[in-house]
Amino acid sequence: MIQQHISLKPYNTFDIDVKAESFVSVKTLEDLTVVLKTNPKKLLVIGGGSNMLFTKDIEGLVVHLDLKGIEIGEKSKKTTRVKVAAGENWHDFVLWSLQQNLGGLENLSLIPGNVGTAPIQNIGAYGVELKDTFVECEAMNLHTLEIETFSKADCKFDYRNSIFKSEVKGQYIIVSVTFELTHTDHKLKTSYGVINDELKKMNVKSPTIQHVSKAVIAIRQSKLPDPKRLGNSGSFFKNPVVTVSKFKELQSQFPNIPHYPVSEQEIKIPAGWLIETAGFKGKNFGNYGVHKNQALVLVNYGGAKGKDILNLSQTIQKAIDTIFGIPLEAEVNIL
Ligand code: EPU
Repeated sequence: MIQQHISLKPYNTFDIDVKAESFVSVKTLEDLTVVLKTNPKKLLVIGGGSNMLFTKDIEGLVVHLDLKGIEIGEKSKKTTRVKVAAGENWHDFVLWSLQQNLGGLENLSLIPGNVGTAPIQNIGAYGVELKDTFVECEAMNLHTLEIETFSKADCKFDYRNSIFKSEVKGQYIIVSVTFELTHTDHKLKTSYGVINDELKKMNVKSPTIQHVSKAVIAIRQSKLPDPKRLGNSGSFFKNPVVTVSKFKELQSQFPNIPHYPVSEQEIKIPAGWLIETAGFKGKNFGNYGVHKNQALVLVNYGGAKGKDILNLSQTIQKAIDTIFGIPLEAEVNIL
C-alpha cells in the first residue's frame, strides 16, 4: 500500500528525519512489478539505508525493498552456492552462513545494510570484498520490468564501486544475489594484522571461520559506532589513492603517514588518518560530529539535519585538500 508523506527516519542508519512524498514497502517481486507499472513517478529504491545521507525531503516514490528468502543451490566438491533475496539483512545472512559452516563471508561480519545493496558498492572489510564470493545477481530493469542476470564480470567490481554505481546507476533494482561459499577447506584471511591480534587475545590457536567472524565483530565494535545506538553510515569517505611521487612528497612532510600499495604506481592512504591529523577526530558540532574512535565516520547524535552533516563533510574535504593536497571523495550516497 502506497503511503504519503512518510518519515524516512526508520529507513536510514544516519537517522535523518526527512519525508518521502510517497512510500511503499514491497515484499514480493510481483508487488514490485505492480508498483513500478502503476507509478510513473520519480523513484528511489532503498534497502537497509546504511549508505545514504538524506539532505532534503524526497520527491516521488520511495520503494523499500523487503524481499526475503535464502535458497541453497548447486554444490561442488568444496563449494555451495546460495541465492539470497535482496531484502535480507547482510549481517543476519553472514551469521546464517556461519551456522551452516559455509565460509567466505566471515571477514564481512557486522557490516550494516542489506544483501541487495551490497554489490552496488562492493562492500569490503579486512582484506575481503563482496566480489570474492559473488557469482551473479538478478536485477529488474526499470524500463522493461524484466529480470536480467549480471555475472561477476558484468558488474565491473572495483574498490567500493560497480556498474550499479556508475554506468547503469538508477536503471536496475537488484532483487537477488548468488554467492559461492566453501563447505570444506575454508580459506581463512587473517592477513590483516588486527585480526591475528584479536584471535591471540581470544586465545584461539587454530581459528575457524566462526572465530574469524567473532574477531571481526570485536574489532568493529571497538572502533565503529553501532548504527542502532548512534546514527552513522560507516566510512563517509573513500580511502584516497595517490601516485608514488605524491606519496613521497607527503612522506617527507609526514614521516609516519600510514599507506598501502595498490599497484607499482599507486598508494592508498587511510582517509581516517588524514582527518585525524587535520584535527577533526572526536570533534562535536552540537548534535553531529566526527566519531571519537574512527575519524572516517561522521555521526548524528540525535536530530541532526542531513545538510549539517553534508556541510561538515565539505569542511573536512576542504581542510584535507589544503593540508595534504588530496581530494577526498564521499563514499556515502548524498541525496
Ligand atoms: N586511522 C587513523 N585514525 C583514524 C582512523 C584510521 O589514523 O581515526 C588509520 C590507522 O593508521 C589505521 C588505518 O587508518 O591503521 C586504517 O584504519 P581501519 O583499519 O579502521 O580502516 P579504514 O581504512 O579506515 C576501511 C574501510 C572500512 C573497513 C575497514 C577494515 C573504506 C572507506 N573503509 O576503513 O569500511 O571496515 O577498512 O577493513 O575503505 C565502510 O566502508 O563503511 C567501512 C567501515
